[in-house]
Amino acid sequence: MQHETASPTARHHRHGSNAGQPLTRRDGLLKVTGRATYAADNHPDGTLYAVVATSSIARGRVRSLNVEAAKAHPGVVEVLTPANRPPLAHDPDEKMPPFGFRVEVLQDDTVRYVNQPIAMVIAQSLEAATEGAALLDPRYETEPARTGPSNGTRFDPQAIGVGAPARTAHGDIEAGLAVAARVTEAEYVTPSQYHNAMEPHAIVAQWDGDRVTIDMPNQALALSCASYAAYFGIPAENVVIRSPFLGGGFGSKAILNGPQILAILAARMLGHPVKLALTRAQMYGPVGHRGRTWQKLRLGTDAQGRLTALHHHALGATSSFDEFIEPAANASLPLYASPAILAEHEGLRLDIGTPGPMRAPGEASGSAALEVAMDEAAEACGMDPLDFRLANYAETEPVTGKPFSSKALRECYVEGAKRFGWSERPLAPRTMRDENGFLVGWGMGTAVFPCPHFPAEARATLRADDTALVETGGVDMGQGAWTALAQIAAEALGLDPDQVELRSGESTLPDGGIAGGSAHTASAGMALHNAGGNAIAQLAELATADPESPLFGAGNIGVVAQAGRLHRRDDEQRGETYAAILARAGRTEVVGTAKSTRDPAVASTHAMYSHGAVFAEVKIDPDLGQIRTTRLVGAFAAGRIINPRLVRSQYFGGMIWGISFALHEEAITDRRTGRFLNADLAEYHVPVNADVPALDALLIPEDDPHVNAIGVKGVGEIGITGTVGAIANAVWHATGTRVRRFPIRMEDLLAGSSAE
Ligand code: MOS
Repeated sequence: MQHETASPTARHHRHGSNAGQPLTRRDGLLKVTGRATYAADNHPDGTLYAVVATSSIARGRVRSLNVEAAKAHPGVVEVLTPANRPPLAHDPDEKMPPFGFRVEVLQDDTVRYVNQPIAMVIAQSLEAATEGAALLDPRYETEPARTGPSNGTRFDPQAIGVGAPARTAHGDIEAGLAVAARVTEAEYVTPSQYHNAMEPHAIVAQWDGDRVTIDMPNQALALSCASYAAYFGIPAENVVIRSPFLGGGFGSKAILNGPQILAILAARMLGHPVKLALTRAQMYGPVGHRGRTWQKLRLGTDAQGRLTALHHHALGATSSFDEFIEPAANASLPLYASPAILAEHEGLRLDIGTPGPMRAPGEASGSAALEVAMDEAAEACGMDPLDFRLANYAETEPVTGKPFSSKALRECYVEGAKRFGWSERPLAPRTMRDENGFLVGWGMGTAVFPCPHFPAEARATLRADDTALVETGGVDMGQGAWTALAQIAAEALGLDPDQVELRSGESTLPDGGIAGGSAHTASAGMALHNAGGNAIAQLAELATADPESPLFGAGNIGVVAQAGRLHRRDDEQRGETYAAILARAGRTEVVGTAKSTRDPAVASTHAMYSHGAVFAEVKIDPDLGQIRTTRLVGAFAAGRIINPRLVRSQYFGGMIWGISFALHEEAITDRRTGRFLNADLAEYHVPVNADVPALDALLIPEDDPHVNAIGVKGVGEIGITGTVGAIANAVWHATGTRVRRFPIRMEDLLAGSSAE
C-alpha cells in the first residue's frame, strides 16, 4: 500500500484481494436478474398516480385549462394548478445554494419553455391520470419563442456552471497574438443534448405527519434533504430519501426539479403516497440538459509551434429565468502552456428549460472545441498533432503556476500512441484508404478533468467475528462505487472485501456527499478510509493499554492492522486478532466515525487533475460520407486505481459518450415553436453496439501523494474529454474536411452540402 502513515494503519502487502483488485461489481447480479428496485418499483399501500401536464409552447401564458373535464374523469382524485397549488415554505423563484436552481412548481400561469409543468393530475391509476391530463386541453397566449442567437438575448454572466468564474485572464492575449508567427481562428458549435438516462425521473413520496419518505434516484442525498426540508418547512431530518439504485444520472439527478416537488406536495395535500414518473419526452425541459455553445478560439503560435496566446470565448445558452451556462471556455485553462490565456463566457437567454450539469459539464463541450482548435493549429504549423501538444506541455498549471499534485500525461501520450500505432500516421489528410476503399483517418485529443472533493461522512462498525458494516449515504449510479468503496473500507479495516458489508443509498446514513463531479469514490472513500482508521485506532488503544495483550505498551505508533489482526510494526509475530482484543475488553464491536474534507493547504498549493490521451480511427465512405469510428485507444492517469475492472469500464463509458457527442447526439427544436422534433430514443441518437468499436483503455500508473490520503482521483467523466476532438480530428484526417459543428453528420462531408 502506498499511503502508510505513522498512525495505526491497515496493510495488504501479502493478503491482497483488496484495493487494486479487479473485483466484479456488487450490484451486478441484482441488476441483471431484475432484483434491483428502482424508485418507480415502490408501491406503498394506497398509492395514487400523478401525471404532469406540460406546456406545448415555449413562451407565453396558460389562458385556460379544462379542470372540470379532468376532474369528471372517474379515476381522477385531484388536479393541481396555479389556482389551488398549496403554498411552499421556500420561494421557488429563489435559488437555494449550493447548486440551487429556480424551479417551476405552478407558481403562476407563465410559460417559459416547452414541457414546463402547467398542471398535475392525481388519480387512482396511471391510466386515469394520463387521461385526466389529456382532458385539460390547455389554451395559451403565445409569444414568439427565442430559439437561437438570432433572437435570444445576450448577457454577461456573473458566474458559469455551478459558480465558476465567467472570465479568467492570464497574460496579455492581444500581445500574445501580435507576436505570433501564425494565428488560427475558428468557431465551433455544440448542440443541446439531453441526459436520456434509461430510468426516468421517478418519485414515490409518502408523508407520515410532518415526516416524508421519498423514493427517488438522487445523486446528492443530503443536499436534497436540506432543500426539500426548506420547500416544505420541516427539519431536514424529517426527510428520508432512499436511492438504492439509479438508472443513469449524468448530472440530471443531482438537481431538484419542479415535477418531483409537485409530487411530494400532492402526497401531503391528499394524505396518500403519490407516485410520479416522467415520460421520456417530459424530460426534455424541466430536468436539465447540456446547453448549446458557440465557441470562438484564437490560437497564436511561434515559429517552433509553441503557443503565444490561447483565447477561448464561449457563448452559452441558458433559460430566460436562470443562469446555468456550460463553462466551456474554462477547458482551456488547465492544459496547455501559453504566456497568455483568456477564457471568457457570454450568456444567451432563450425560451428553454434551464441547462444543468451533464456528463463533464463544460469540460466536454469545451474540450471538443479546444482539441479541434489545437489540431488546426498543429496543421497550420505543419506539425504532428501529438508533437504539437508535447511542445505545449504544461509543467505547472498554466494560469496559476501551481505544481500538479501528479501528472502522468506525458506517459499517457507515449503509451497511448504506442498502442494505437500513431507513429505510422501520415501528416497530410486524405492519404489513407482501407481495402474496401474507405477513407481512413487518425486523430487524437488530450483528456483532462479536475479532482473536486465533496465533504463526506462515514461510519465503520468492526465486529468480533471479523466482519464489518460500513455506511455512507451516497449512491452507486452505475459507476461501481459500492464495490470500490467496500474495497477502500476493507483496506482501512485490515479485512477482506467480502468481510465488509457496505450500506449506502439512503439519507439516514452518514452523509456520503455528492455522486458527481467524478469525485464520489475519492470523497466517500476518504470518509470510509478515515472511519476504518478510527475503528482500528480504538482497537489499538484497547490492546496497547491491556497488560494481557502482546501489544501492551506498543503504543499507537507501532501497530499495524492486517487480515483481522493487529501486530507490532517491528515484529509481525507479536500481535493478536480483533476477536481476542474485543473479547478481553468485553466488547462485541468498535464503531469508528469520520468525516473527509480536503486539506485547504493542499488545494491552495497544488493543481489537481486526472489526465489522458485519446487516439481515434475513423473510416468514411467516400461517396456517402458515412462515418464509422473503428478504433479508440485511451490512456488515462488518475492516481491510484482501486478497481481496474470498474475503472476501465468508466473510461469505456466516457469514451462512448465521446463517440455520442462527436457523431450522434443532438436535440433538435422547431425554430418556429421551440418544440422538440426528436424527444425520444428513436430519433435522439445515442451510440448502440454497432457504433462502438474495439475500445482500449490503458491504465497509466500514477502515484499522487497530495490529492488525498488514498491517492485516488476521479475517473467518471474524463473519458468524454479528448475523445470528441480525437474523432473530429480523425474525420478531418480522413477527408480533409474540417467540420466545426457537432454532431458531425454524413452530409457535412458531402461536396456541395449546404449544411451549416
Ligand atoms: Mo456529473 S454532470 O457531476 O453527475
